[in-house]
Amino acid sequence: MDWPYPFWIAHRGAGKQAPENTAGAFRTGAAAGFRGFECDVQLSADGVPFLLHDDTLERTTNGQGLACTQPWAVLAQLDAGSWHSPAFVGEPLASLAQLSASAADLGWALNLELKPSPGEAERVGAGVARWLSDHWKGGIPPLLSSFDPQALRAAQAADPHWPLALLVERWSAEIPALALSLHVRAVVSHHASLTADGVRALHTAGLKALCYTVNEEPDAERLIGAGVDGLITDRLDLPLHVASTRHP
Ligand code: G3P
Ligand code: MG
Repeated sequence: MDWPYPFWIAHRGAGKQAPENTAGAFRTGAAAGFRGFECDVQLSADGVPFLLHDDTLERTTNGQGLACTQPWAVLAQLDAGSWHSPAFVGEPLASLAQLSASAADLGWALNLELKPSPGEAERVGAGVARWLSDHWKGGIPPLLSSFDPQALRAAQAADPHWPLALLVERWSAEIPALALSLHVRAVVSHHASLTADGVRALHTAGLKALCYTVNEEPDAERLIGAGVDGLITDRLDLPLHVASTRHP
């Protein structure tokens, strides 16, 4: 498989301009011209993959407690939009089934960040990979990323078909060897610690180099100059403001 992912990837669907990780966010990102989307995936208590960043429901929904202890029938009733703005009152949590249908119809490329709550890495990694094997409708295969090597190993064991990426908060010289041991295609680093030497080391190892979450023009310019293969951003207007000719 070649590298089919667009350079610019909208963080949590549309960054901050719509409630993160909801269908409204992806619509907003797509309207701004994006076709690559990062989002955070967990499993409900009954094994349904859905999108949520936090372990708990309070910040971005009207629910309470740990999300992974609730069945999808309960989670699906929550309001995940009111916290953001009146325009999104009643926006529900998005299931991976809903998102994958849109991705197949509209040609979107997804970066699904496996976001397990503590103790959930194995279940989330394996569960999401298996769900994709059973339900993915075709199109650009989703890139499964995680900070948690256990979640990546579980996804790989469940179905080695799905491309993987290792997320790292801080670049170090040991990262390429760790990434290769996990059989990932890419390393997604926090932007502050990735240098041109780091990008070169990743490329030498045959790995793609991506960065999160890049919201300032000078950071984007520096990383593009360093040769990165993709940037995850909250700023839907950022591609229009960097000197590079790359567009979402
Ligand atoms: O996938 C990159 C980025 O989303 C990781 O951080 O906390 O925004 O999920 P976070
Ligand atoms: Mg994320």
